[in-house]
Amino acid sequence: MPPKSAGSAVDSSRTAYGDEEFSRFLRRGFLASSGYDDVDLERPVIGIAVTTSSYNTCHRDMPALVEAVKRGVLEAGGLPMTFPTISLGEILTSPTSMLYRNLMAMDTEEMIRALPMDAAILLGGCDKTVPAQLMAAASSDKPVLLEVVGPMMTGSWRGERMGACTDCRRLWASHRAGELDTDEITEARGELVTTAGTCAVMGTASTMACMTEALGMMLPGGATPGASTGERLRHGVATGRRAVALAEQGGPLPRDVLTRAAFDNAIRVLAALGGSTNALVHLVAVARRAGVDLKLADFDTVGAKVPLLVDCKPSGQNYMQDFHHSGGLPALLKVLEPELDTTTIGVTGRALHELLGDVPARQQWQSTIRSLEDPLGPPGALAVLRGSLAPNGAVLKTSAASPHLLQHTGPAFVLDADQDIASVLDDPDLDITPEHVLVLRSAGPKAAGMPEAGALPIPRKLARQGVRDMVRVSDARMSGTSYGTVVLHCDPEAAAGGPLAVVRNGDLIRLDVAARRLDLLVDDDEVQRRLRDYVPPAAPQRGWGRLYAETVLPASQGADLSFL
Ligand code: FES
Repeated sequence: MPPKSAGSAVDSSRTAYGDEEFSRFLRRGFLASSGYDDVDLERPVIGIAVTTSSYNTCHRDMPALVEAVKRGVLEAGGLPMTFPTISLGEILTSPTSMLYRNLMAMDTEEMIRALPMDAAILLGGCDKTVPAQLMAAASSDKPVLLEVVGPMMTGSWRGERMGACTDCRRLWASHRAGELDTDEITEARGELVTTAGTCAVMGTASTMACMTEALGMMLPGGATPGASTGERLRHGVATGRRAVALAEQGGPLPRDVLTRAAFDNAIRVLAALGGSTNALVHLVAVARRAGVDLKLADFDTVGAKVPLLVDCKPSGQNYMQDFHHSGGLPALLKVLEPELDTTTIGVTGRALHELLGDVPARQQWQSTIRSLEDPLGPPGALAVLRGSLAPNGAVLKTSAASPHLLQHTGPAFVLDADQDIASVLDDPDLDITPEHVLVLRSAGPKAAGMPEAGALPIPRKLARQGVRDMVRVSDARMSGTSYGTVVLHCDPEAAAGGPLAVVRNGDLIRLDVAARRLDLLVDDDEVQRRLRDYVPPAAPQRGWGRLYAETVLPASQGADLSFL
């Protein structure tokens, strides 16, 4: 096949040596050392961001995906050029991968800009990688496609199917309650994370993969094929081919794809998925970069009519494999079609209504995806709350909460993020009841990078009495794989002087999800008096931690850095 010509990226935006022809001469000279000749360098250059890392086990099989993507690029006449960026593995990154999401977004954005390429393919998967790459794409003026490694397969222990990480949390709760001994929990551990790939349920990684496909930044059908499957590799090949076409056509660009209508569609899909609460922070951050004015309240209003349709843990019972075998996101979009704006155009260049014309109507066997007439749960899977304890908003995943706690008033039991929380909650003499509201503070973006600490463990004493859920309130996040009546992202956070900072043990807190309220039942004058005496925790004094703490935006604004 003759080489395509999009104007050689290799000769554009040359390295600044003060002599453009010398830059061109040097560039081609050094590329020649890698075996590239002038014929190669006339092809559209496709930069491929690779996030393989020994520290990111979810991306263990990415090398095979990279080869598939490169093959697609070559088949279409392009020149694939891989480059590394930071890789954020959720489990091994401390204190929380969220602290580094914006750093990865900066890294990726700057490399797309700095390196010669006509289009980019960003390969991610694990929780923060996809949001970071979407943010980078939104800030870039190059055609960009995202591709993910895909979810892991499920395992089985003692006849029970299981997969990371809703089951990890459920089994650990049983261990804390004394129902599983150390040998049993250790044995079960070997079946929880059985293959490469992202968590097996509708956690943050799969939610964000679905958001990417719903937004139109990924080729259709890319969110759900399992890691290591042939379908995943074939999708990678197709992505490589499509990137060459985008390079040749010069678009659609991310700003053409990431429109208000695309975000509204994503919000409706999120409601139908009962997806991760983290998606609210990430989508607001991506929208801000795309110049779309997306507010936290939009998640309540735009998705208000959409019921829970996807039966995946933690909101349901199944796994990503099952969602995929029911048709994945295209099948869900088909069911949701009456609720969507189908004029949106993604990286395919085709309108959504054209794409959905190729998707068959849902059949009965596609049982992981329910119909609008027979949903799994009511609308409002994700609720945005306001009130005196969260004047700028807070978030609750009602689809993974306990119905009997959605209207609850109880005394606060307060914990600070820098405490040894486990030893407090493990105290057999702890003076606490199931009616208490566990409050965690100083875990917001500014104070701590917003760790996934909001789903506080049930105090051991109560767990052993059979208590499995309590109302928990914090300025932290929680894992998309978690469940429980957990109010998150309280804004303003404690470290920014939010009322959460001055809650005291015994203060009454009222949660009223139907009214979308979260209130501290303490007189406002008293709250203001306490706030005058509040001293926030010390901020980091150097490096990334300092830059982050000084410039991070509140959770309700996406927790991006203010200057990005
Ligand atoms: Fe990587 Fe769950 S730990 S997706």
